[in-house]
Amino acid sequence: MSSTTNGKRPVNVAILGATGAVGQELLKILAERNFPIGQLKLLASARSKDATIKFKGKEYPVEVANKDAFKGVDIVLSAVGADVIKELAPMAVEAGAVVIDKSSAFRMVPSVPLVVPGVNEDILQNHQGIIASPNCSTSQLVVALKPLHDLATMTRVIVSTYQSVSGAGSPAMDELSEHTHAHMHGQPAAPKQFTKPIAFNLIPHIDKFNKDGYTKEEEKLTEETRKIMGLPELPVTCTAVRVPVFIGHSESVLIEFAKPITVEQARKALGTSEMIEVWDNPDENVYPTPVDAAGKDPVYVGRIRKDNSSPNGLHLWVVADNLRIGAALNAIRIAEYLLEHKLLKQAVAS
Ligand SMILES: NC(=O)c1ccc[n+]([C@@H]2O[C@H](COP(=O)([O-])OP(=O)(O)OC[C@H]3O[C@@H](n4cnc5c(N)ncnc54)[C@H](OP(=O)(O)O)[C@@H]3O)[C@@H](O)[C@H]2O)c1
Repeated sequence: MSSTTNGKRPVNVAILGATGAVGQELLKILAERNFPIGQLKLLASARSKDATIKFKGKEYPVEVANKDAFKGVDIVLSAVGADVIKELAPMAVEAGAVVIDKSSAFRMVPSVPLVVPGVNEDILQNHQGIIASPNCSTSQLVVALKPLHDLATMTRVIVSTYQSVSGAGSPAMDELSEHTHAHMHGQPAAPKQFTKPIAFNLIPHIDKFNKDGYTKEEEKLTEETRKIMGLPELPVTCTAVRVPVFIGHSESVLIEFAKPITVEQARKALGTSEMIEVWDNPDENVYPTPVDAAGKDPVYVGRIRKDNSSPNGLHLWVVADNLRIGAALNAIRIAEYLLEHKLLKQAVAS
């Protein structure tokens, strides 16, 4: 077991879903941030039982996730689907671990904190072993909304998303590569991960359709935004669209406020957040795109302008790396907060 790193005592970490898109990003960011790891366990399904993954120069076996896999683990960073973690989380908590979950399984459970550090980390004080991290499109949105709400009180939010294929996991990224190649060579390619061809196309359909015509993805963004912002009645509406981009979600956001807000006031408020970079100089073609955001930590905001159809409305263009702020980085920031504030249920590894 290693000694202290970054002045913090090491903790035993399990990455559940280590072979997936978010799992791989978790490992990358843990190394980048020199997270103080004692023992590291990499867990996935039986499909990966013979796999190994390199972390900081050392080869680790991928183990099959089951009840016994969580013994001695302090933190489980979970990047598996909702059905899988619903079964495994109680076993991990029973074994004494804190579970930080990336799936939708527990996000709307009232007793489970749904957290974006920098927006509502205070509620971590009351966690009961399971902590939820929001949907990727929600995470970047609330980071941009928070300083503006503090400034002028939001009364309505309208969002259209342009979501990259990595938001649907690594098989979806493979499908965009394969379909692009097939398209360029005049070959047929049947969609598997999506309902329509994704190369050179866009699809206004993410997750299942509800009876009211909205998709589950749109419902998640709406409900999770209200829960994180502590505004259960806030009118929020969304259209979520999948686009042929590998990494980086973009959002067109219209916010209406209780009082007028100028573009300059908005720029200044957004600029005070450590998590935001304002890229907003249309005269010089300065605005963020997914290619700018991929692999980076900030939430980028540009195209800030008064809405010309409502008195107190403001438009924003919000772009971020969905695998980082939308998933892995957010989970690791939660883990860092737990460590810093001694909020791990189980004693840290000696
Ligand atoms: N991608 C994003 O931007 C994003 C953002 C926010 C939240 N999320 C959420 O994060 C989770 C992971 O997403 P992803 O994009 O990383 O998906 P992914 O690339 O498809 O990876 C899924 C991971 O889950 C593992 N897994 C599947 N069934 C399992 C089982 N029965 N037991 C143990 N492990 C199992 C897979 O292992 P094998 O390789 O062995 O199959 C793989 O490691 C999902 O809940 C997703 O909704 C993703």
